[in-house]
This record gives sequence, C-alpha cells and structure tokens, in this order.
Amino acid sequence: MERLLLSSYVLPLLLLDLMNGGLMSQAWTVPDCTIADSSLLSNLSFYVPFCPLAPGLHTFASCSNVKDLTQTLRAVPWDIQALCLQGMVPILPAKEFARFPFLQLLRLQLGTLKITSEAFQGLNQLQYLSFEHHAPCCLSLLLPPDALEPLTFLSNLSFHGYCLNYSQNIQLPISLRHLALRHSCLRELQELQGLFSNLVPSFSPTASPRPWSPFLEVLDLSSNLQLNQAGVRALNGLQLHSLILDGTPLNALGLLGSGLLHLDFLSLMGTGMEKLPGNVSGYFELRALDVGRNGIQNIEDGDLSSCHSLECLSLQANSLKFLPIKFLNALPQLQRLNLSMHKLGPALVLPDGLVSTNLRVLDLSHNELCVLPYGAFSFIPQLEELWLSGNNISNVSSESLEGLK
Ligand SMILES: *[C@@H]1O[C@H](CO)[C@@H](O)[C@H](O)[C@H]1NC(C)=O
Ligand SMILES: *[C@@H]1O[C@H](CO)[C@@H](O)[C@H](O)[C@H]1NC(C)=O
Ligand SMILES: *[C@@H]1O[C@H](CO)[C@@H](O)[C@H](O)[C@H]1NC(C)=O
Ligand SMILES: *[C@@H]1O[C@H](CO)[C@@H](O)[C@H](O)[C@H]1NC(C)=O
Ligand SMILES: *[C@@H]1O[C@H](CO)[C@@H](O)[C@H](O)[C@H]1NC(C)=O
Ligand SMILES: *[C@@H]1O[C@H](CO)[C@@H](O)[C@H](O)[C@H]1NC(C)=O
Ligand SMILES: *[C@@H]1O[C@H](CO)[C@@H](O)[C@H](O)[C@H]1NC(C)=O
Repeated sequence: MERLLLSSYVLPLLLLDLMNGGLMSQAWTVPDCTIADSSLLSNLSFYVPFCPLAPGLHTFASCSNVKDLTQTLRAVPWDIQALCLQGMVPILPAKEFARFPFLQLLRLQLGTLKITSEAFQGLNQLQYLSFEHHAPCCLSLLLPPDALEPLTFLSNLSFHGYCLNYSQNIQLPISLRHLALRHSCLRELQELQGLFSNLVPSFSPTASPRPWSPFLEVLDLSSNLQLNQAGVRALNGLQLHSLILDGTPLNALGLLGSGLLHLDFLSLMGTGMEKLPGNVSGYFELRALDVGRNGIQNIEDGDLSSCHSLECLSLQANSLKFLPIKFLNALPQLQRLNLSMHKLGPALVLPDGLVSTNLRVLDLSHNELCVLPYGAFSFIPQLEELWLSGNNISNVSSESLEGLK
C-alpha cells in the first residue's frame, strides 16, 4: 500500500506516492525544493524542518539554500498554496511571486533583505507572510511603504529577528489581524507609529480616503530585549484583543498612559516583574493575564482588588510561598488558575478564602507538595481539572479530595 524511500539516500529526483485514506498524496523534489501535499508533512519533516503550515493548506514547496531565487522558483508548480524559502537572497525583485496566484502562505528566511515595491504583486490570496531570521539578532530588512498593498487578504504578518529601522510608513493591509515583531530592536512602543503608518488611528493622515476602522486583534512584540519604554500616547486609540510583551523589559504600568483603548489579554511572561500588575489589569478590565516566569513573591490584597475581571490567570513559575487569604474571593470571574512551579508546599495551606463558584481548572503541579490537607478543595466543588503532577505526594486519601465532583 505504501511505497516510501524516505529514510534512504536523497535522490536527485525523489518521487513518493502514498495512499492516505484512499487519496493519493505525492511528494517529489526539484533542485533546492521539496514539493508535497501537506498531509505528508509529518512524514517529510526531516527534509522540511522550517516549513510549519497553517491548517487547511494542501500543496506546499519548501526550498533551502536558495541563492538564485528566480531560477529556484522556475521549477516550482504554479498552483502551490504554501511556499517556504531559506537561503541568502539580498533583493526580492518585482513580481517575483506573480506566477503563484493561489499562494496563501509565504515564509521567508533569506538573510539581510531589501524588498522592492512590487515584490508581492499578484499575491491577492496570501494570508500569512513571515520574515524570519533565527539568532543572532538582528538583520536589517527594508520594506517600502507600499510593498504590502497588493496583499488585500493578508491576515498574519510576522517579523522575527529583523530590525525595521530603515523602513518607515509601511502601509498595513486592513485585512490584517495578527502582527508580530519579535526578536527585533524596538526600544519604545512609540517607534511603531513611524514604522506602520496606519497602525495607530490618530496618526494616519486625514487625507485617507476611507475613515479608519480598527483592525488588529493580536500585537506580539515579544523578545524585544531593548523595549523598555511605552511612551505617552504611543498606541493612541488602538483597539486590540491581545498584546504580547513576553521577554521585554517594559514596565507594564507604562501601558496606562499609552493611549491603548481596549485589551482582553495581556501576556507579560519573563519581563522581570516583581508585583502583580493589578492596576493594568483593572484599567483594561483584562479577561486573561499571563505573568509566568517572573519574580512575583507576594501578592497583596490591593493588587488583587483590581483584578476582578480576570477569567484566566497564569502565574506559573514565580516564587510564591503562600496565597493571600482572600485570593479567589477577589477574583469572582476566575475560571483557570495556573499556580504551577511555585513553592506552595511542602504542606499546602489553602486559605479559607479559596472559595469560588467559577473555577474550572487549577494547576498546582511542581509545588513541592507532600500532603493534601483534608478537604483541601471542598470549596471549589465545580472544579473540572486539577493538576498535581511533579509534587511529592505519596498518598492521596479520599478525605483530601472531598467535595470534588
Ligand atoms: C505518515 O505520517 C502519518 C501521520 O503521522 C502516519 O500515520 C503514517 O503512517 C506515515 N506514513 C509513512 C509512510 O510513514
Ligand atoms: C497567526 O497569528 C496568530 C496570532 O499571532 C497565531 O496564533 C497563529 O499561529 C498565526 N498563524 C500562522 C499560520 O502563522
Ligand atoms: C538599527 O537598530 C540597530 C539595533 O538597535 C542599530 O545597531 C542600528 O544602528 C540601527 N540603524 C539605524 C539606521 O538606525
Ligand atoms: C497601583 O496600585 C497600587 C495599589 O496596589 C496603588 O497604590 C498605586 O497608586 C497604583 N498606581 C497607579 C499608577 O495607579
Ligand atoms: C500552566 O503553565 C505551565 C507552564 O507554562 C504549562 O505547562 C501548563 O500546561 C499550564 N497548565 C494548564 C492547566 O494550562
Ligand atoms: C518526598 O517525601 C518523602 C516523605 O513522604 C520524603 O522522605 C522525601 O525526602 C521527599 N522528597 C523530596 C524530593 O522532597
Ligand atoms: C495513607 O493514608 C492512610 C489514611 O490516611 C493511612 O492509613 C496510611 O498509613 C497512609 N499511607 C502512607 C504510606 O502514608
């Protein structure tokens, strides 16, 4: 049923036919590239390590060690939906991808890169575009203001390991939902206004033909190691669902004056903070807050009183030794609480205030717990998931789980 030569030597031309659920799937190689049906990606991952795909895509081409892009692309079929390119290509010429009208995902790992204005012409089905360079940070990328204009369907745009400080006034497609600028050299949030001309509404010129409408859902600025200032009104009027600032030295309080209007989810993992950012949570009425991998040793009642809107709190890998008395009382909406990787053991003393009617998921794994006190969870009967792995509990009595349904 299956004819597969994967683990053998790589032939100049390798053809695979696989029966997957009755459908014939194929994979073959042309110079520099592997071309295949996405259903074979797991079988081919050894050959195409840098081509993670989005769901729903079928044919893809993954090319490595590309030097002459035009020549490499000549052998790639015109009807592919995803294209991953890795190599050294200093310039992306005009209309380089115009032969691929069905392309939905384009992932570029091409080193220091200068993009010409019309490089993405013809890609009006493209949804995912990423520029990646993995360590050391950062290479420079020159993107002209109108380069993204043809991409009227673009929903994800991601830069990883690139500095955009030679690019200015990049016009973002209004279809964009997710913007990531990770491992870059941002120092202040303010710089985003200069980089992206229509990101922050008040900054776009009034000459714009249509009234501006908010479009972004996720802004991911993680691992900008120099990003330590928000800047007053830096994100003036911006409406977002999620802001991700993991691994940046930004003081979260700076967000209060940034002019950001709305936020459901804020992620501040590994930012070095020592205090739960209660004020920020209260200001935006956050529904989810992730402050894992920080140095929060104590939580005060004052911090909690501002967190009443939280449905999900991830506090994993801080150094909490105990929980404040009224912990869950102060968080009436809370449904998921991650307290893994603290030092809440050896004997867990759950405060009397551990009463909640909404909590569904509680993670207490890796806490040096040795015993579970009797009735430890009796005030949270509606709990659906309780995580206790990585502790030192040798004996669980039915009394300690009393009350759980
Ligand atoms: C290809 O991968 C799928 C999913 O991982 C697996 O079920 C299948 O057995 C693999 N086929 C071959 C020929 O290795
Ligand atoms: C699109 O962006 C979102 C948010 O950043 C991310 O979760 C998702 O994985 C991205 N999709 C692709 C295919 O890159
Ligand atoms: C761009 O940023 C990098 C890193 O911060 C810096 O070394 C470089 O001088 C900057 N270039 C310009 C033109 O500002
Ligand atoms: C933040 O909250 C604390 C109480 O936890 C309060 O004392 C402080 O004044 C607040 N700071 C700002 C900037 O609102
Ligand atoms: C809690 O956080 C840890 C570390 O990020 C993660 O591995 C774990 O899955 C989380 N727990 C739950 C229940 O989501
Ligand atoms: C685990 O608990 C036992 C007693 O139940 C104790 O002897 C042992 O030292 C503990 N191990 C760790 C790693 O804490
Ligand atoms: C486990 O708990 C039961 C009931 O509390 C007790 O009788 C038993 O000795 C315990 N076993 C160990 C190994 O601690």
